[in-house]
Order: sequence, then C-alpha cells, then structure tokens
Amino acid sequence: MARFFVLEEVSYCYPGSAKTGVCQVNLELEPGTFLAVLGANGSGKSTLARLCCGLLKPTAGRVLVEGYSTANDEELRYIYQRVGIVFQHPEDQFVASTVEREVAFGVENQNLSSRAIRQVVDAELARFGLTALKTAHPHSLSGGEKRFLSLADVWALQPKLILVDEPLAMLDPGARERIARLLKELKTNGQSMIWFTHNLAEVMAADQVLVIAAGRVVWRGQPAALLAMAGQVRAWGISLPPATQVASALGIDRSPVVNVDELVAALWK
Ligand SMILES: Nc1ncnc2c1ncn2[C@@H]1O[C@H](COP(=O)(O)OP(=O)(O)OP(=O)(O)O)[C@@H](O)[C@H]1O
Ligand SMILES: [Mg+2]
Repeated sequence: MARFFVLEEVSYCYPGSAKTGVCQVNLELEPGTFLAVLGANGSGKSTLARLCCGLLKPTAGRVLVEGYSTANDEELRYIYQRVGIVFQHPEDQFVASTVEREVAFGVENQNLSSRAIRQVVDAELARFGLTALKTAHPHSLSGGEKRFLSLADVWALQPKLILVDEPLAMLDPGARERIARLLKELKTNGQSMIWFTHNLAEVMAADQVLVIAAGRVVWRGQPAALLAMAGQVRAWGISLPPATQVASALGIDRSPVVNVDELVAALWK
C-alpha cells in the first residue's frame, strides 16, 4: 500500500527570485501523526505548507499523498480530497459571500444530499460559534471570527491531513485555547496534522518537530528536547514558552520548565 504522506527532496524557488523558498526537504508522515514545523519569519513555513497540499508544485523532488503526486494535475483532485489547508491569512481562504455559503462551498463537491450538506454546515457553524453570523459576509467578520470560519471550511471536509499555518496568530487567550483544543481533537479522530508556527509553546503536544531555517530542515526531534537548547532555539528565531524563558533567565532550567506550574515548582526547590 502507498505510504500516507511523503516529501522526497522537495525544493521550491519562486519565479524570478534568486533565493530558494524551500530546499531539499524530506519527510514521511504516518496516519494520525501531529507534526510541528517551526521556523522564523521568512524561513519557508507557508511555502512548505503550500507545497504539502499541491497549491505549489516542487521545482525539484516530489510530494506524494497515498501515492498521488502533486506534480500531476490529474491527481490533484485526489490530493485535495485528502489534504486540507488553513491559510495563514484567513481571507485567502474565502470564496463565498456569506458565512454559511462559505462553509458549504467545499462540502457541495462531496456527493452528499442537500439535507446532509445542511447538517454538516450547521454542525460546523455551531462547533465554531458562527451560527449567529451565518448570513454575514466573511470579510466583515472580526479577526478571530475569520480564523474560526477558515477552520470550519476545512473541518467540514474531514481531510485525512490538515495543514494549519500559524492558526493562533492574532487571537485572544480564550480563542487560542478553544482552537488549540479543537486541533488536538483531530488526533483522536485519527486525522493527521501539520502545524506551522514560530512559537514552540503552541506545539508542545506534537509527536515530532521539524525546524526549518532559510528553507532547509536544520533539526528534527521531540518538542521537549528543544527546551534544553534555549540558545540555539532563539538563534533559529523560534519563541520559547514564556515560563521556559523566565526559567532560563533565572538559571533554574536544569530540568525542563514549560508552564507556570513547573516554573513555580522550580522556584520553590
Ligand atoms: N510570492 C513570492 N514570491 C517571491 N518570494 C516569495 C513569495 N512568497 C514568499 N517568498 C519568499 O520565500 C521565503 C519564505 O517565505 P514564507 O512565506 O514561506 O515564510 P514563512 O516562514 O511562512 O514566514 P512568516 O513566518 O513571516 O509567515 C521568504 O524569503 C519570502 O520572501
Ligand atoms: Mg508564513
């Protein structure tokens, strides 16, 4: 059986740009895995995300989803059925003139009865707290509401792999917690996720981490291992969890400190 999701020596150069956007990335994902891709601004996270779902085609190497290659236009529809992307900027996602039409847009291509489509749309609007806004124009929503709508768009399609590009940027703490909880539910559904961010605290629950700098993979491993390499992590332009930064500044970072409770415990020792 074809492997679930594979990147083989994937590189991408933007047309007319001398710089490489993404360079020789290798990756294999098992179903049900949560992978974090960490990197600074401009390191290539969004470029890699677009390569992973077939919106960009590699200039070298291959992206394979259950054996289908993003390089072949006739295979792209199979890839779009399996991989969904939540863009860094929610507005890039929107195609319809109302919130409910927006969520229905992708679902309508799924061979469902109109009653089943209605049920999916209503369930996703409720899940993301958008029911009262269903007749609003997507562009009229607040930043947080736009983020919830962009997640609802992709959630409604139940892809096997969801790519989320900086999903918590510009959200208040309540919304961040809600979204983080919903994203973690994917794993219990057997879905896979790749979460692109520069903020380690968001992805401490990841099964694997890949760090990219200037488009290249510079480190792979478990998120907890990054806590013990604060200097290097900062040099890569990745934010450490605030409690880790405080522990590091106070010199009490012999054992990993991720949250406030661990920081308080370390201070009392
Ligand atoms: N359309 C484009 N044309 C030319 N160069 C681009 C284009 N989009 C991105 N780049 C360049 O590719 C590199 C990687 O950009 P990318 O947007 O993937 O980074 P990122 O890690 O997502 O950054 P951020 O954290 O700011 O979102 C950058 O040097 C950027 O300037
Ligand atoms: Mg980006």
